[in-house]
Amino acid sequence: MNLDQIKATITTVPDYPKPGIQFRDVTTLMQHDAAFKACIHHLAARFDDLKVDKVAGTEARGFVFGAPLAMALSVGFVPIRKANKLPRAVIRQEYELEYGKDMLELHRDAVQPGDRILLIDDLLATGGTMLATAALVRQLGGVVEDAGFVVDLPALGGRARLQEAGIRCHTLCQFE
Ligand code: PRP
Ligand code: HPA
Repeated sequence: MNLDQIKATITTVPDYPKPGIQFRDVTTLMQHDAAFKACIHHLAARFDDLKVDKVAGTEARGFVFGAPLAMALSVGFVPIRKANKLPRAVIRQEYELEYGKDMLELHRDAVQPGDRILLIDDLLATGGTMLATAALVRQLGGVVEDAGFVVDLPALGGRARLQEAGIRCHTLCQFE
Protein backbone atom coordinates (compact mmCIF):
# COMPACT_ATOMS: atom_id res chain seq x y z
CA MET A 1 0.00 0.00 0.00
CA ASN A 2 1.23 3.51 -0.75
CA LEU A 3 1.09 6.41 1.69
CA ASP A 4 -2.21 7.77 0.33
CA GLN A 5 -3.81 4.36 0.78
CA ILE A 6 -2.46 4.13 4.33
CA LYS A 7 -3.77 7.63 5.10
CA ALA A 8 -7.21 6.61 3.84
CA THR A 9 -7.47 3.98 6.60
CA ILE A 10 -7.26 6.67 9.33
CA THR A 11 -10.71 7.75 10.54
CA THR A 12 -11.63 11.35 11.27
CA VAL A 13 -13.98 11.69 14.24
CA PRO A 14 -15.74 15.08 14.35
CA ASP A 15 -16.17 16.87 17.68
CA TYR A 16 -13.97 14.49 19.72
CA PRO A 17 -12.91 14.95 22.48
CA LYS A 18 -14.73 18.28 22.36
CA PRO A 19 -16.74 20.36 19.87
CA GLY A 20 -14.73 21.71 16.94
CA ILE A 21 -11.88 19.14 17.13
CA GLN A 22 -11.41 16.79 14.18
CA PHE A 23 -9.81 13.78 15.89
CA ARG A 24 -7.57 11.63 13.63
CA ASP A 25 -8.10 8.11 14.91
CA VAL A 26 -5.25 5.75 13.97
CA THR A 27 -6.89 2.66 15.50
CA THR A 28 -8.59 1.97 12.15
CA LEU A 29 -5.12 1.93 10.52
CA MET A 30 -3.82 -0.44 13.23
CA GLN A 31 -6.65 -2.91 12.72
CA HIS A 32 -6.22 -2.98 8.91
CA ASP A 33 -3.72 -5.78 8.29
CA ALA A 34 -2.21 -4.49 5.03
CA ALA A 35 -2.13 -0.84 6.14
CA PHE A 36 -0.46 -1.61 9.46
CA LYS A 37 2.16 -3.79 7.82
CA ALA A 38 2.81 -1.24 5.07
CA CYS A 39 3.09 1.55 7.63
CA ILE A 40 5.86 -0.28 9.51
CA HIS A 41 7.51 -1.14 6.20
CA HIS A 42 7.57 2.54 5.10
CA LEU A 43 8.97 3.67 8.47
CA ALA A 44 11.64 0.95 8.42
CA ALA A 45 12.71 1.91 4.89
CA ARG A 46 13.04 5.54 5.98
CA PHE A 47 15.13 4.79 9.06
CA ASP A 48 17.21 1.81 8.00
CA ASP A 49 20.24 3.95 7.02
CA LEU A 50 20.33 5.75 10.39
CA LYS A 51 21.75 2.69 12.12
CA VAL A 52 20.17 3.55 15.46
CA ASP A 53 20.87 1.51 18.60
CA LYS A 54 17.28 1.53 19.92
CA VAL A 55 13.77 2.72 19.17
CA ALA A 56 11.93 4.57 21.96
CA GLY A 57 8.13 4.75 21.79
CA THR A 58 5.88 7.02 23.86
CA GLU A 59 2.80 5.68 25.65
CA ALA A 60 0.35 4.67 24.46
CA ARG A 61 0.13 4.68 20.69
CA GLY A 62 3.88 5.10 20.27
CA PHE A 63 4.20 1.54 21.59
CA VAL A 64 1.98 0.18 18.82
CA PHE A 65 4.17 1.59 16.03
CA GLY A 66 7.53 1.68 17.84
CA ALA A 67 7.78 -1.98 18.87
CA PRO A 68 7.23 -3.54 15.41
CA LEU A 69 9.52 -0.88 13.90
CA ALA A 70 12.27 -1.86 16.36
CA MET A 71 11.86 -5.47 15.27
CA ALA A 72 12.01 -4.47 11.61
CA LEU A 73 15.25 -2.54 12.30
CA SER A 74 16.61 -5.42 14.44
CA VAL A 75 17.13 -3.23 17.51
CA GLY A 76 15.63 -3.12 21.01
CA PHE A 77 12.57 -1.17 22.10
CA VAL A 78 12.44 1.31 25.00
CA PRO A 79 9.02 2.29 26.42
CA ILE A 80 8.57 5.88 27.62
CA ARG A 81 5.61 5.75 30.01
CA LYS A 82 3.13 7.95 31.81
CA ALA A 83 3.88 8.47 35.54
CA ASN A 84 4.08 5.58 38.01
CA LYS A 85 3.96 2.71 35.52
CA LEU A 86 7.63 1.67 35.34
CA PRO A 87 8.78 -0.55 38.23
CA ARG A 88 12.48 0.34 38.63
CA ALA A 89 14.53 3.54 39.02
CA VAL A 90 13.28 6.23 36.62
CA ILE A 91 13.91 9.78 35.47
CA ARG A 92 10.91 12.08 34.98
CA GLN A 93 9.93 14.91 32.67
CA GLU A 94 6.87 17.10 33.08
CA TYR A 95 5.22 18.49 29.93
CA GLU A 96 2.34 20.78 28.99
CA LEU A 97 -0.98 19.52 27.75
CA GLU A 98 -3.74 21.68 26.34
CA TYR A 99 -5.21 21.78 29.84
CA GLY A 100 -2.70 21.27 32.65
CA LYS A 101 0.41 19.11 32.79
CA ASP A 102 1.40 15.45 32.56
CA MET A 103 4.55 13.44 33.31
CA LEU A 104 6.60 10.93 31.32
CA GLU A 105 9.13 8.51 32.79
CA LEU A 106 12.04 6.43 31.49
CA HIS A 107 13.97 3.66 33.25
CA ARG A 108 17.44 4.96 34.16
CA ASP A 109 19.18 1.92 32.66
CA ALA A 110 17.19 1.93 29.39
CA VAL A 111 19.59 4.27 27.55
CA GLN A 112 23.40 4.26 27.75
CA PRO A 113 25.50 7.39 27.08
CA GLY A 114 26.12 7.66 23.33
CA ASP A 115 23.21 5.39 22.33
CA ARG A 116 21.61 6.61 19.10
CA ILE A 117 17.86 6.61 19.77
CA LEU A 118 15.05 6.91 17.22
CA LEU A 119 11.88 8.37 18.79
CA ILE A 120 8.48 7.14 17.60
CA ASP A 121 4.91 8.24 18.26
CA ASP A 122 1.70 7.91 16.30
CA LEU A 123 0.95 11.61 15.88
CA LEU A 124 2.68 15.01 15.98
CA ALA A 125 0.47 17.88 17.15
CA THR A 126 2.12 20.64 19.27
CA GLY A 127 5.27 18.54 19.71
CA GLY A 128 5.13 18.81 23.52
CA THR A 129 5.02 15.06 24.07
CA MET A 130 7.95 14.42 21.75
CA LEU A 131 10.02 17.26 23.26
CA ALA A 132 9.56 15.68 26.69
CA THR A 133 10.48 12.26 25.25
CA ALA A 134 13.67 13.67 23.71
CA ALA A 135 14.56 15.48 26.95
CA LEU A 136 14.39 12.19 28.88
CA VAL A 137 16.59 10.33 26.41
CA ARG A 138 19.12 13.20 26.30
CA GLN A 139 19.21 13.38 30.11
CA LEU A 140 20.67 9.85 30.08
CA GLY A 141 23.24 10.78 27.43
CA GLY A 142 21.32 9.33 24.50
CA VAL A 143 21.75 10.92 21.07
CA VAL A 144 18.46 12.04 19.48
CA GLU A 145 18.43 13.35 15.94
CA ASP A 146 15.28 11.90 14.39
CA ALA A 147 11.66 11.37 15.35
CA GLY A 148 9.10 9.42 13.32
CA PHE A 149 5.31 9.76 13.30
CA VAL A 150 2.52 8.28 11.26
CA VAL A 151 0.46 11.51 11.29
CA ASP A 152 1.46 15.19 11.27
CA LEU A 153 -1.02 17.95 12.13
CA PRO A 154 1.04 20.84 10.67
CA ALA A 155 -1.39 23.54 11.85
CA LEU A 156 -0.26 22.84 15.43
CA GLY A 157 3.41 23.66 14.75
CA GLY A 158 5.13 20.61 16.23
CA ARG A 159 7.68 20.20 13.46
CA ALA A 160 9.14 23.70 13.97
CA ARG A 161 9.34 23.26 17.74
CA LEU A 162 11.17 19.97 17.36
CA GLN A 163 13.49 21.41 14.72
CA GLU A 164 14.47 24.17 17.17
CA ALA A 165 15.47 21.39 19.58
CA GLY A 166 17.65 19.79 16.89
CA ILE A 167 15.24 16.98 16.03
CA ARG A 168 14.33 16.07 12.44
CA CYS A 169 10.73 14.97 11.97
CA HIS A 170 9.67 12.25 9.55
CA THR A 171 5.94 11.81 9.02
CA LEU A 172 4.03 9.47 6.73
CA CYS A 173 0.95 11.63 6.20
CA GLN A 174 -0.50 15.02 7.06
CA PHE A 175 -3.99 16.28 7.88
CA GLU A 176 -4.43 20.04 7.38
C1 PRP B 1 -1.46 11.98 21.80
C2 PRP B 1 -0.61 11.38 20.69
C3 PRP B 1 0.76 11.94 20.97
C4 PRP B 1 0.43 13.33 21.51
C5 PRP B 1 0.61 14.37 20.45
O1 PRP B 1 -1.25 11.24 22.98
O2 PRP B 1 -0.62 9.96 20.73
O3 PRP B 1 1.48 11.20 21.95
O4 PRP B 1 -0.94 13.30 21.93
O5 PRP B 1 0.33 15.65 20.94
P1 PRP B 1 1.43 16.79 21.12
O6 PRP B 1 2.29 16.76 19.90
O7 PRP B 1 0.61 18.05 21.20
O8 PRP B 1 2.18 16.53 22.38
P2 PRP B 1 -2.11 11.44 24.30
O9 PRP B 1 -1.50 12.54 25.13
O10 PRP B 1 -3.55 11.61 23.89
O11 PRP B 1 -1.86 10.09 25.10
P3 PRP B 1 -2.27 8.56 24.81
O12 PRP B 1 -1.44 8.09 23.63
O13 PRP B 1 -1.88 7.86 26.07
O14 PRP B 1 -3.75 8.52 24.51
N1 HPA C 1 -5.70 12.34 17.09
C1 HPA C 1 -5.03 11.63 17.99
N2 HPA C 1 -4.31 12.16 18.96
C2 HPA C 1 -4.26 13.49 19.02
C3 HPA C 1 -4.93 14.29 18.10
C4 HPA C 1 -5.70 13.69 17.09
O1 HPA C 1 -6.31 14.33 16.23
N3 HPA C 1 -4.66 15.58 18.42
C5 HPA C 1 -3.84 15.55 19.50
N4 HPA C 1 -3.58 14.28 19.86
